[in-house]
Amino acid sequence: MSGWAGYEAKKRELVGGLSGTVLELGAGKGANFGMLGKGVDWIGLEPRAASRRTLESRAATWADKTGGSYRVLDTGAEQIPLPSASVDAVLSTVVLCSVDELGGVLTEVRRVLRPGGRFVFFEHIGAARGSWVCRLQGLIRPITRTFDKGCDPTRQTDDAIHAAGFTTVTLDRYTLPGLVPIPYIAGTAIS
Ligand SMILES: C[S@@+](CC[C@H](N)C(=O)[O-])C[C@H]1O[C@@H](n2cnc3c(N)ncnc32)[C@H](O)[C@@H]1O
Repeated sequence: MSGWAGYEAKKRELVGGLSGTVLELGAGKGANFGMLGKGVDWIGLEPRAASRRTLESRAATWADKTGGSYRVLDTGAEQIPLPSASVDAVLSTVVLCSVDELGGVLTEVRRVLRPGGRFVFFEHIGAARGSWVCRLQGLIRPITRTFDKGCDPTRQTDDAIHAAGFTTVTLDRYTLPGLVPIPYIAGTAIS
């Protein structure tokens, strides 16, 4: 299924399947708590103070309900303040478009994952080079970089994940419905 319902179903499947210690990059206001399973030890990175306040309170409610634990860290994903091989999974949902240095973040993700650990990602990406969507993404890029949390809509995040040195990468492609068919990827990379 490549439509939007398929994307949402894949999100519930992959996020719901995470267990053990799960590190979430750019957790925002905690949109993914509803999909996480029981007993997860969740660590969230969130550099924006305004989002962190809501995140802390949602994390506490989620932990109470599910028997999980939580820690919110005030930092970006470029330098993750955790030991190497210390987490079972890393989760990222629409974050890699905004990080300062994508290659460096993926290196950090591989560093903190235990061998065999899973990087689960849901990201919008740049459209095929030369397409009208790609040209439009290039035109709005200066605006989104400035006013939408640093978001770069042209980023070829799929290529970067494939080049990052994971053992295996499995991803599906989706299109956001609407006037502008924005491409998304969803998948898993194994450390
Ligand atoms: C579009 S929001 C997505 C939030 C959340 N993941 C979700 O799915 O609702 C992008 C998030 O990435 C965070 N972010 C921006 N730069 C970041 C960085 N360098 N490292 C980690 N998170 C970052 C933003 O603060 C924001 O919370």
